[in-house]
Amino acid sequence: MRKKVIAGNWKMNMLPNEAIKFIEQLTPMVKNTANEIILCVPYTDLFYSLLTAQNTNIKIGAQNMHWEKSGAYTGEVSGSMLKSIGVEYVIIGHSERRQYFAETDETVNKKIKSALQNELKPIVCVGETLNQREEEKQIEVVTNQIKIALNGITSSQIENVIIAYEPIWAIGTGKTATANDANEMIKAIRNEISTLYNEEIASKIIILYGGSVKKENSKELFSCSDIDGGLIGGASLNVDDFTKICLSV
Ligand code: 13P
Repeated sequence: MRKKVIAGNWKMNMLPNEAIKFIEQLTPMVKNTANEIILCVPYTDLFYSLLTAQNTNIKIGAQNMHWEKSGAYTGEVSGSMLKSIGVEYVIIGHSERRQYFAETDETVNKKIKSALQNELKPIVCVGETLNQREEEKQIEVVTNQIKIALNGITSSQIENVIIAYEPIWAIGTGKTATANDANEMIKAIRNEISTLYNEEIASKIIILYGGSVKKENSKELFSCSDIDGGLIGGASLNVDDFTKICLSV
């Protein structure tokens, strides 16, 4: 039985004092859930969030990292830097990074490898554009992203990888994929994992859905056979909404 994982992606929101208050409010509400609760916060909130979330069941993640350990990369943060302060998870290849910061499947692959070498758990984002879905190419596009992203990742490393299917047309638009469509795509991803690794690994890997998940639709989405939880943007900024999403399954 796979664990449910609910991850908030705050994107470029929340000052440290807001992060601390949010985590203090969330802590007692989710303390009894068996679900894995993760908050992926801006770099400037990481340390405060880690301290506030100490001795709670809330895990802290970053939203990006560089693949090199150190060097002349102004403005970048490495996996070893994240690890050194106690970060556990890191989002890799979010569509906003691909769209605005020229990330490619190849840089995503390098970042995943570096994250794993630094004992961080990558949350790897994949998803098709509206055009690609209208042309019915979504399965081809997403399985191809998966193939390149996971190139060279071993069977023992893959245990620490989470995949998030986020159709680009559903992010921040209020349009959610139907539970059925999301489940079908996530099944296709699981199938691809089975081809690349084996059936046992495919049945264990955690695959999330992201894109306009709200307290009103989370239960339906997360109750689907293959959807193991969500990566939540906008609704993770409101502690009451996020709590309801965390406890919806
Ligand atoms: P929204 O939940 O705001 O649509 O964002 C989804 C997302 O991009 C999470 O990474």
